[in-house]
Amino acid sequence: MKKIIITIDGYSSCGKSTLAKQLAAKLNYLYIDSGAMYRAITLYFIQQRVDWADTYQVKTALESIQLEFVYNQLTGQSDMYLNEENVEPMIREMVVAEKVSEVAAVREVREFAVAQQQQMGAAKGIVMDGRDIGTVVFPHAELKIFMTADPAVRVQRRFKELYAKNPNISLHEVKENLELRDYIDSNRAVSPLRKADDAIILDNSNLTMDEQLDLVSQWVEDAI
Ligand code: C5P
Repeated sequence: MKKIIITIDGYSSCGKSTLAKQLAAKLNYLYIDSGAMYRAITLYFIQQRVDWADTYQVKTALESIQLEFVYNQLTGQSDMYLNEENVEPMIREMVVAEKVSEVAAVREVREFAVAQQQQMGAAKGIVMDGRDIGTVVFPHAELKIFMTADPAVRVQRRFKELYAKNPNISLHEVKENLELRDYIDSNRAVSPLRKADDAIILDNSNLTMDEQLDLVSQWVEDAI
């Protein structure tokens, strides 16, 4: 069967990765969480005290970064490796979430990540989620989805997810972080978050997971 590229972009905590994983498992496609790559770069910059306002420091630091995203279709587990270390739990922490949108707005960082993402999709048969996948990374993708959901629903979902790992987290903190990231992501000069002209909007505020998957599976069939 013909293999295609599926891009899923949208605001923070719309459930992009959940849908992307379901599709990848159903179609036996590769799944890449591009946000995890920006999170891993951010973690490295924090750990190594890289000043991301300094282009020279950024360029030098990027030369020492090796990224690998591994998704296990059988278990549904995905892990981000930074220089061969599994940094998955660390990149989901608030210290990284607070800085990732600043780091992801740096031109050199984006060029570094986008080049690798394009390489991963060279053979097609891939689902990638992020902010600029349908607009910049794969502008010729066969199926582009732009996900959105009611902000209050998104905050609740994200809070539940983070609270399970850290009961000290507050709803207010989560809300502020989502709003700030969406603002920076949508207003940055390089590759801002926006819907590709040919993307289909998926508002999942009132959809169950099954309803969502059925709907998107139909779009996939149409695109293949
Ligand atoms: O998807 P996730 O919320 O984990 O992404 C974390 C951050 O990485 C986003 O808020 C955004 O700043 C950045 N990002 C990006 N471009 C992508 C994916 C993520 O700028 N393609």
